[in-house]
Amino acid sequence: MTRSHGTLAGYWDRQAPTYDRRMAGVERRFFADSRDWVCGQARGATLEVGIGTGANLSHYPRDVQLTGIDWSPAMLHVARSEADRVHRAATLHHADAAALPFAAESFDTVVSTFSLCCIPDVRVALTEALRVLRPGGSLLLADHIGSSFWPLRALQHAVDLFSVPLQGEHYTRRPAAMLRKLGVTAEEGERRTMGMIERVHVRKPH
Ligand SMILES: C[S@@+](CC[C@H](N)C(=O)[O-])C[C@H]1O[C@@H](n2cnc3c(N)ncnc32)[C@H](O)[C@@H]1O
Repeated sequence: MTRSHGTLAGYWDRQAPTYDRRMAGVERRFFADSRDWVCGQARGATLEVGIGTGANLSHYPRDVQLTGIDWSPAMLHVARSEADRVHRAATLHHADAAALPFAAESFDTVVSTFSLCCIPDVRVALTEALRVLRPGGSLLLADHIGSSFWPLRALQHAVDLFSVPLQGEHYTRRPAAMLRKLGVTAEEGERRTMGMIERVHVRKPH
């Protein structure tokens, strides 16, 4: 049985107190360098979707005006402490990536890192991200995706059989391909670690 939205947000609430500690190894090996790549390109009014524990907060340029959303109050609570720890001003909202509580074209940059793998309807979330982005603005993504090395991809499909119903975690998604279906193409993109980690910079067409 697939978990409902409320149950999935509750799942993240339970992860929050120990998430950073449990992810420390994965963070160092696979995620850390993507944070500078993504956040370093953020400019102006910036929205981070699925901000989690705020792992990106110390990576943004100081002059970025940052808003973050997450549907887990407990993750937001950790992100608030992290913002205080790194002295980063940030407005945090409890919200669903599939229904962003912001007017169209209200951000210069939208960021999402390692969240599209677990947002239930990633197509709707990307459509929302593009809606709130001003024309010419940057959508910056990093995530683990379906590998370009087929034996690994086959293993990821097998893992999905359990991780999707139990944790809402998808290992085989490919956000850049989904963006192409939505009519936008990446201006810049990289795949690393056997094609399993993807970074994408999309500029919203005028
Ligand atoms: C794996 S964590 C990643 C957190 C952070 N972005 C990072 O780079 O470490 C995924 C986060 O996405 C959030 N999330 C998942 N689905 C969401 C949704 N539909 N709306 C808002 N937040 C969501 C979860 O609550 C969790 O905090």
